[in-house]
Amino acid sequence: MRGVLFVCLGNICRSPMAEAVFRRKAGPAGLSDLRIDSAGTYGGHAGDPPDGRAVSAAWARGYDMSTLRSRQIRPEDLDRFDLIVVMDDDNHSSVTRMARQADSRVAIKRMMEYSGKFQRKSREVPDPYFGGRAGFERALDMIEDAVDGLIAELGAGR
Ligand code: 4NP
Repeated sequence: MRGVLFVCLGNICRSPMAEAVFRRKAGPAGLSDLRIDSAGTYGGHAGDPPDGRAVSAAWARGYDMSTLRSRQIRPEDLDRFDLIVVMDDDNHSSVTRMARQADSRVAIKRMMEYSGKFQRKSREVPDPYFGGRAGFERALDMIEDAVDGLIAELGAGR
C-alpha cells in the first residue's frame, strides 16, 4: 500500500476533513509512510482553502486543516494511489468512470464501508455544504468512525 486518496465533490468539506483525520490517526497507527491526499471530482474550488465551517469543526476536535487546498482529481492519481475512498454515490460513479477510461484497476471504496457505527444507517457521507453546522458535526462523526475502521484494515494488512 503506497497511498490513499479521499474524494468528494468540491474537495472543500468532506474529503479534506477525511484527509486531516486520517493524517492525525495514521502516525500513531504506524502508517506514517503512506501518501495521503484528497481531491474533488469538480474543479470549481481548485486552489481554495477548505470551507470555514469544516475548518472550525475539525479544529475543535484537534484536526488541523490550515495547509490544505482544493484540487481536482486527475488521471495520474489512479497510478499514484492504490486506494481511492469516496464519500457518496455520485463520487463513486465519477471516479469509476475515470478509472474505466484510463484502464486503471485502482481500488475504489465508499468511506462508509469502513464505518462500524454508521454503515447500516447510511452508505454515504452526506454533503454538508448547503446545510448548517450540525451537518458538519455529523459528517465528522461519520468520518472519524470510518477512518478508525480504515486504519484498522490497513494496519492488519501489513
Ligand atoms: P464537498 O462539499 O464535496 O464535501 O467538498 C461541496 C463543496 C462545494 C460544492 C458542493 C459540495 N459546490 O457545489 O460548490
